[in-house]
Amino acid sequence: MRILSGIQPSGKLHIGNYFGMMKPAIELQEKGDAYLFIANYHALTTVNDPSVLREATLDVALDFLACGLDPERTVFFRQSDVPEVTELTWLLSVVTPMGLLERCHSFKDKTAKGIAANHALFAYPVLMAADILAYQSNIVPVGRDQKQHVEVTRDIAIKFNNQYGEVFTIPEPKIGDDVAVIPGTDGQKMSKSYNNHIELFGAEKATKKKIMGIVTDSKGLEDKKDPDTCNVFALYKLFAEEEQCEELAGLYRAGGYGYGDAKKKLFEIMWEHMAPFRAKKEELAADLTGVESILQKGADCARAEARKTLDVVRAAMGLAG
Ligand code: ADP
Ligand code: TRP
Repeated sequence: MRILSGIQPSGKLHIGNYFGMMKPAIELQEKGDAYLFIANYHALTTVNDPSVLREATLDVALDFLACGLDPERTVFFRQSDVPEVTELTWLLSVVTPMGLLERCHSFKDKTAKGIAANHALFAYPVLMAADILAYQSNIVPVGRDQKQHVEVTRDIAIKFNNQYGEVFTIPEPKIGDDVAVIPGTDGQKMSKSYNNHIELFGAEKATKKKIMGIVTDSKGLEDKKDPDTCNVFALYKLFAEEEQCEELAGLYRAGGYGYGDAKKKLFEIMWEHMAPFRAKKEELAADLTGVESILQKGADCARAEARKTLDVVRAAMGLAG
């Protein structure tokens, strides 16, 4: 069973990204034939500074490898190292009705936010369909916001198969319902666009400052507190073992324990949890040639698969021979 997902390189990753997306994506390597790529062609629709894109792409690669992605088990690559997907995008465009793309929420949302409506932004779902179909993927784990794009992919694949013969595997989206929304320092969904995020690999001082700034209710030191409505506790739970959670919940309920102490505990547990990942990231950053060769090896494997599909597609459409 082939499981494929892609991640846009869009700035420094935070705790919400980690628990909501990275950790489940890394765990896919236990569940099947996993493909994971950095969607830098897609990022071009919103990032237009080459050095920003280059740096963000490298940073995502380092973060995933540091957090446990095993390149021996997951085919890990940069989207742009498989240019076959852009050819496939054109070939799929032929069977993609305009109406299908006009209905896509993400295009409507982005243009409503003032992002220029260029062709790439409009054709974004067709490139995503090519990513998925090039590798004959069975399962595509994505966030809720991407579900419609996987449905568009299914429509395109079904239409192609009807017109040209059974070429594509029809993929299924897998929505991470089990992953709760991680709250930010103000209690809203953690997001870099709200600036309420805690970076995964932030510096010690900056991380401490962010954590000490988490919004809580105004109960005094002596008051009894409710762990279930507290942002500090919600974040602590992500890192802690069951027993540690119970212990902290007990301190909250007993009173005489302040939010400042809870924040310090959260900082400590997060800092400790991330220590091996930080060490690994440093090690990787000191050997960028090694990282590049991991990505190249992934790309070689992905390219060979995409080539196979593309040859069948070209023949089916009357382009070859
Ligand atoms: P941001 O909101 O910071 O811009 P993105 O939209 O780039 O984050 O999200 C990238 C991935 O991380 C998506 O798969 C998304 O579902 C996941 N993610 C982002 N924020 C959270 C959060 N607060 N809780 C759970 N998952 C999240
Ligand atoms: N559009 C996805 C996002 O922004 C990233 C992506 C690109 C993707 N191609 C994909 C995800 C193919 C899954 C499968 O999150």
